[in-house]
Amino acid sequence: MPKHYFIGNWKMNKLEEEAKSFLSEFCSKFTPNSKYADTGFAPVLTVLSGIKNNFGKGSGLLLGSQNIHWLENGAHTGEVSAGMLKEQGVTFALIGHSERRQFYGETDSSVASRTKTCLSSGLTAVVCIGESKEEREKGITLKVVETQLLGAIQELTSLITPENLIIAYEPVWAIGTGLTATPEDAEVVHDYIRSKLVEILGQNIGEQISILYGGSAKAENISALVSKKNINGALVGGASLEPGSWLGLVNNGREAVSAKA
Ligand code: PGA
Repeated sequence: MPKHYFIGNWKMNKLEEEAKSFLSEFCSKFTPNSKYADTGFAPVLTVLSGIKNNFGKGSGLLLGSQNIHWLENGAHTGEVSAGMLKEQGVTFALIGHSERRQFYGETDSSVASRTKTCLSSGLTAVVCIGESKEEREKGITLKVVETQLLGAIQELTSLITPENLIIAYEPVWAIGTGLTATPEDAEVVHDYIRSKLVEILGQNIGEQISILYGGSAKAENISALVSKKNINGALVGGASLEPGSWLGLVNNGREAVSAKA
């Protein structure tokens, strides 16, 4: 079974004090136990140095970034490099989130460049893919997802291991809307992604890559989602912003993973 993950994407939320107070409450109730799933956060860059001591060995928590540039340094206003992230204890980066694709000009080609740097720097790439409402209505969901997946990884197959690549399937129409894909509809897409991963990477690696679901996941619906074979955890926005709702999601999610193991 692939490793399962519950990752909170904090997007552009939380000042340093808010992030610290979230973590102090969350960590007081959270039991580190990665047997069934790892738990992580991708906060804004400005809070990394203030919160990094909550992460690392023994914490059971992974620290991530919401972006990563493909170069080491240089004239790239507003970007951040792998070395800068690693210095803060970051071990994974979100790449190609639909908000970046929709509003900040992210393309399949820039997603591939960021993914390449991530993999070759020893970081884990969480590559986000997913169709819009219009694309789903036109019946081209699988085609869209396949194009985004291949665009991100098909040139990088020699760098990919089950540990350094995670795919997050996030239907755009479900992000932040309260509309969740049904577990059955999500599994159709996850199963298709799995078949493509096996085709590109071979069975040994393709079957072990984690595929997360994202889009209005919460404590109440996570068990049904994760009980599906190819749904290996979740990338979560809204429900990761409050310690209580996040703890509920992580605990219910872990229980569903253990039942599947
Ligand atoms: P949501 O966001 O859980 O608020 O829908 C998910 C995401 O954007 O990763």
